[in-house]
This record gives sequence, structure tokens and C-alpha cells, in this order.
Amino acid sequence: MIGPHANAVARQGEFAQTKSSQALRAGQHELKAADESTMTTQVPTINADGAAIPALGFGTWQLRGSACTCAVAAALDIGYRHIDTASAYANESEVGEALHAAKLARGEIFITTKVWTDALRDGALQRSAEASLKRLRLDRVDLLLIHWPSASVPLRETMGALCDAKRRGLTSHIGVSNFSADLVAEAARLATEPIVTNQCEYHPHLDQRPLLDACRRLDIAFTAYSPLGRGEVVRDPLVRRIAEAHRRTPAQVVLRWLVQQDEVIAIPKATSPAHIAENFAIFDFALSDMEMQEIFGLARRRARASS
Ligand SMILES: NC(=O)c1ccc[n+]([C@@H]2O[C@H](COP(=O)([O-])OP(=O)(O)OC[C@H]3O[C@@H](n4cnc5c(N)ncnc54)[C@H](OP(=O)(O)O)[C@@H]3O)[C@@H](O)[C@H]2O)c1
Repeated sequence: MIGPHANAVARQGEFAQTKSSQALRAGQHELKAADESTMTTQVPTINADGAAIPALGFGTWQLRGSACTCAVAAALDIGYRHIDTASAYANESEVGEALHAAKLARGEIFITTKVWTDALRDGALQRSAEASLKRLRLDRVDLLLIHWPSASVPLRETMGALCDAKRRGLTSHIGVSNFSADLVAEAARLATEPIVTNQCEYHPHLDQRPLLDACRRLDIAFTAYSPLGRGEVVRDPLVRRIAEAHRRTPAQVVLRWLVQQDEVIAIPKATSPAHIAENFAIFDFALSDMEMQEIFGLARRRARASS
């Protein structure tokens, strides 16, 4: 189970020793009361039906070849422990290479991959997951997602196959991506295993509150993809003003705004080591309630970075 209460318990349980997690979530008032110098730089986890998902992950879409291996290696070196890939990204081998070279204990890292729309039939889905594992050099992923819903395969069949992949041990947890509020409810109804997240586009320029509310009602975490609006939202004047006030960068403010919301996980992608490091440094400051609301005020109905 997740939900605001479970989330708070999970975060406090994991990071109580740092005394900062409550302040991080509560905003500027508590932050002022806390000693900022003792705030954690550790990444909190979102506990979703048994899955402990790091609230910040590293996106890999469009990273290919050695650029992908180098970027994932840099991310792991900086401290990211949650990597997002997909069979459709054609980079699972490179992600696997970087993971293998990093020599981290398997339990330290959280790997998500996704099944593309051409493999949503029973049998094809499990084979796609097995092929992903081979490329990633893993015996199971932490999270396997349906990348996009498809009208051409009954959702009941796809969810049955996804649950079977979990029961076979190909993945520890299952989830969906790009599912509307109605569809995620239908998927949850059909699944015999818990759906732990719905991965969808989310950034300050895109109003996702109805979908977020629907996921929260279902106790499903929300993974924000394109959290930087593919680089666009960092140019927003309000975001820039708030960044200046905190002596942070606009990207850090946007990512902080996302992870400061209950049950929200952000997975920014970056290529340059400077961006990779910058995006990771968001757990030692907090936005005030007013700043959070000001950024919520930027939401527009039609502001998708994806088509
Ligand atoms: N489930 C889905 O259907 C789906 C769809 C899209 C994305 N995703 C996942 O979400 C991840 C992130 O989304 P995304 O790649 O679309 O977009 P994004 O993370 O919002 O933006 C990436 C862009 O922002 C730039 N950037 C990164 N850090 C920056 C910083 N600190 N300052 C300024 N610019 C910065 C990057 O530049 P550089 O690369 O040059 O550093 C890149 O051009 C993907 O990689 C993928 O893993 C999932």
C-alpha cells in the first residue's frame, strides 16, 4: 500500500536519522527550523506496494552507444540508483554494460524497463522481458512496465501476461506507462499483482492533477517522465526567479518541485556530466508552500513535450 501516510512512514523510516525528510516535504517553514547543513543528500524512496522506488531516477531515452554507457556510468558514479530504460530505446545492452562495470550490489540498484506495443500478447510479452534481461545482463528487473496501451490487444490479456512475468520472477514489480485515469483503473482491476506506478509525462507546464489524483486513489505511485519538459521548462521566467532566490539552477527547482509532491518520482535524462550531477543535487533544499503553488500555477492544459 502507498498513500500519503504510507509514504510519510516509508520516508521517515528510511531517513529518520538525517532528521530532514519531514522538513524536505513540509517546505520552507520547517526548513528554516531545521539545520540546513545536516540535511541529507540521500535520495528518498517511494514505497509502493512493496516496491522501494528511488524518488529520483536517470532517464536514458535517446542515449545510444558509448554516449549511453558513459552517461549511465557517470550517473551511477554520482549516486543515482534508479535507471529507466525500455526495449524500444535500443540501449539496454549499453545500460547493462555500465551496470556490470559499476560492480554495485544488485540490491543497491533499481532497474526499470518496458515492453513495447508489438509485444503485448501473452507469450510475446514474457519473451520481450526475457530478451531485455539478456541485454541488461540481469536475471530480473525491479520494474517492468507496459510502455504504451494498445487498442489492438485486449488489456486483460496484456495484464495477465505482465502478472505472469512477475510470477515467473522476470521482474520484482509491474507497472504501466502512458495510461489515462480510466485505463489505469481498468488495469488495476484486471491485474492479480499490484501495479506500483504509472509513468507519464509531467512537468510544471503540464497539468496532470486529475491523473495524479486518480493514481493516488488507487495507491499507485506516479513516475514523471520528461520532467524537464525536454529542456523547455528550465527557460521559464518564474522557475528562473525561484532558482535565483535559492541559488540553484532552474532544472534543480523543477526536479525539486516534482519530488516534493507525494508519491512522485522524477527520471530526468541528461548527457553531460555537469547536467547529470546538477540534477542529482536536489535533496538538500526545499521549496516553500508558496513556491510550490506558484509553480503549479504554470500548468497549461496542452503542453505535452511528447506528441
Ligand atoms: N514512458 C514513456 O513513454 C517515456 C517517454 C519519454 C521519456 N521517458 C523517460 O523519461 C526520461 C526523461 O525524459 P526526456 O528524456 O524526454 O526529457 P527530460 O529529462 O525532460 O529532458 C532532457 C533534456 O533536458 C536537458 N537537460 C538535462 N539536464 C539539464 C539541466 N540540468 N539543465 C538544462 N538542461 C538539462 C537534456 O540535455 P543533455 O542531454 O544535453 O544534458 C535533454 O535535452 C527519458 O530519458 C526516458 O527514460 C519515458
